[in-house]
Amino acid sequence: MKFFIDTANLAQIREAQDLGVLDGVTTNPSLMAKEGISGEENVINHYKAICDIVEGDVSAEVISTDFDNMVKEGEVLAALNPKIVVKVPMTKDGVKAIKYFSQKGIKTNCTLVFSAGQALLAAKAGATYVSPFIGRLDDISVDGLALIEEIRLIYDNYGFTTQILAASVRHSAHILGCAKIGADVMTGPLSAIVSLLKHPLTDSGLAQFLADHAKAAGQ
Ligand code: E4P
Repeated sequence: MKFFIDTANLAQIREAQDLGVLDGVTTNPSLMAKEGISGEENVINHYKAICDIVEGDVSAEVISTDFDNMVKEGEVLAALNPKIVVKVPMTKDGVKAIKYFSQKGIKTNCTLVFSAGQALLAAKAGATYVSPFIGRLDDISVDGLALIEEIRLIYDNYGFTTQILAASVRHSAHILGCAKIGADVMTGPLSAIVSLLKHPLTDSGLAQFLADHAKAAGQ
């Protein structure tokens, strides 16, 4: 399973890249706003900076909601760097735009997916990635991981090549659940990725090893 980081924060992207386990980045307009990035030129420069840090795909979301402008915006974004994946919302115009981009060989990430029916449409339109938001489903007491399972079954039934990018991941249990089900990618905050490292027995075991070593060395 690929690990994407879900942030527009360059320091966090660098930290995840340095860890050696990063396969890509997802951003969205809220995450860009959180970093204070606004205005076309700044947004473009920020995407370029992200592409310079990571080796894998970088999702850049369109702001337009109508087909013509989604296409214009997406083509500008895609031309920035071959790593760019145009992120398009799951709407009627969005599905049409995904079909258009897929015919042009431009990678897409269909975002704001909350049902298996939406995921099926995204795959039929030729999306490179589909992003079911599992954390936001959990927030409204709907089982997010169950949706990933449903989409996995449907895609496998028909051999769809659209990659399931489990989004809105909040913690290590989400990451493990996605890995067990067979999500192709998960995207989450740095804290969720780093939390996989943690186990109290690792900490106490290491402390014991170091103490025993120091004792034997007469320190
Ligand atoms: C997906 O690509 C989105 O950026 C994201 O995962 C949303 O997550 P949130 O629910 O934590 O905002």
